[in-house]
Amino acid sequence: SLRQHVPKGLQRPPGPRGFPILGNVLELRKDPHVVLSRLSRRYGDVMEVKIGTWPVLVLSGLDTIKQALVKQAEDFMGRPDFHSFQYISDGHGIAFSPKSEEMWKARRKLAQNALKTFSITPSPRVSSCCLLEEHISKEAEYLITKFLQVMEEEKSFDPSQYLVVSVANVICAMCFGKRHDHSDQELLNVVNLNNDFGEVASSGYPADFIPLLRYLPSRTMQVFKDINERFTSFVRNIVQEHYTSFDKENIRDITDSLIEHCQEKSVGEDAHIPLFNRKIVGILSDLFGAGFDTVTTALSWSLMYAALYPDIQKRIQEELDQTIGRERRPRLSDRNALPYTEAFILEVFRHSSFMPFTIPHSTTRATVLNGYYIPKDTCVFVNQWQVNHDEKLWKEPSAFNPERFLNAAGTEVNRTESDKVMTFGLGKRRCLGESIGRWEVFLFLAMLLQQLEFSLRPGAEVDITPQYGLTMKYKKCDCFQIKQRFPMKSSP
Ligand code: HEM
Repeated sequence: SLRQHVPKGLQRPPGPRGFPILGNVLELRKDPHVVLSRLSRRYGDVMEVKIGTWPVLVLSGLDTIKQALVKQAEDFMGRPDFHSFQYISDGHGIAFSPKSEEMWKARRKLAQNALKTFSITPSPRVSSCCLLEEHISKEAEYLITKFLQVMEEEKSFDPSQYLVVSVANVICAMCFGKRHDHSDQELLNVVNLNNDFGEVASSGYPADFIPLLRYLPSRTMQVFKDINERFTSFVRNIVQEHYTSFDKENIRDITDSLIEHCQEKSVGEDAHIPLFNRKIVGILSDLFGAGFDTVTTALSWSLMYAALYPDIQKRIQEELDQTIGRERRPRLSDRNALPYTEAFILEVFRHSSFMPFTIPHSTTRATVLNGYYIPKDTCVFVNQWQVNHDEKLWKEPSAFNPERFLNAAGTEVNRTESDKVMTFGLGKRRCLGESIGRWEVFLFLAMLLQQLEFSLRPGAEVDITPQYGLTMKYKKCDCFQIKQRFPMKSSP
């Protein structure tokens, strides 16, 4: 009964007519974030498209999205029960699992607390302000050395394949208490995703809507299943190791703290929600998966924009030189004193909109939005790209211009402007690694740009067209070149 009864006085949302059986799937095949942004101008912020025979609600416009995800948070906080989602994190994670609300809430809170303890809580044990700073500084130093070495050998290179290992090491350190070498094949096997994960996990993957497609042989789907399987067994092995060396007097990392929680599950408020091994693996896979691909993609785009706009890169470096100098490394506590760097990162988030949609949502009950009737269990796409390129919100949205976020004197980030950038979702499902993600992008970038100048090989043709997916990346580009800005000192 797809044509549900619409209460009197209410209407279904408008939208483009589609073909029978296929719906609008053909129109949405390429760059759906752009196509749906264009359609939203005609049909409005609350629009319905059909993928196969499924109605999908598409939300645009910052105010409408806030209304749904924040003011009507309970109504819009679900996840659709997609075929592809069951393979992610063994169907037991936080981000993609359509499991009961109670279960999701308990897991989210657990993950959030553990994450905090092993990242931004001040630590008396370490030389840095907190573990997060310690891990990033260390990884960024390795990365700089690695970049210089590859540059020396190859004369030009692709930074993303090295970035991913460094970023993965930061989340690995917090989750599993260990780091991997840049040549570690076991880690490379799980982090070198290309677009094979993001394509299937993206909003609008046709086989999630058209069951028939699941029965046709699909290389993409097979690769997707393999990736998730590799991922889960990687995490499973680590959890197994932790069980054998577990000591409740010495909680080493997030894995240990989840094991501890399980062993204490007979006490505490969520005692009725059993959290077994499979769930620990699910939570950890989610944190690890969400924690490396997003930050790596953000940094890849940052280096690309820095190389494409040398004047902007120079201004960041001048700010770093003036505020930090060359005698010491940047620290997390420098962030507020570096408004131009912050504005650059915001503009990278906005302009690339590398997460064009949030993870798909679904309605938990029948509801009304902007006067339109939305049945229970409707799949909802939230178009972040549209918000970040909305002409009603931004002057010349297609121009890359960090200064749009600064006050006239250039001394402060304008919070009204920065709050309009949609990158981490909003409301109850908003990214739970947002602060960590922002800190990571900031400190990696500040460390890299303090030491290195990035450029593209003269005459090289660079294609920065984003490839559609859950996270959008540009095609592999091995034309990056670097110059050391000044002789490196050993760590302070
Ligand atoms: C969810 C963006 C970093 C963990 C999300 C969502 C977005 C997002 C758009 C979906 C929100 C929604 O469905 O409405 C980003 C970006 C990052 C980043 C742009 C980096 C620049 C991280 C990090 C972690 C993380 C570092 C973990 C350490 C998660 C989790 C969810 C999530 C667990 C699922 C939340 C839920 O469904 O309740 N993120 N993220 N993310 N993110 Fe992030």
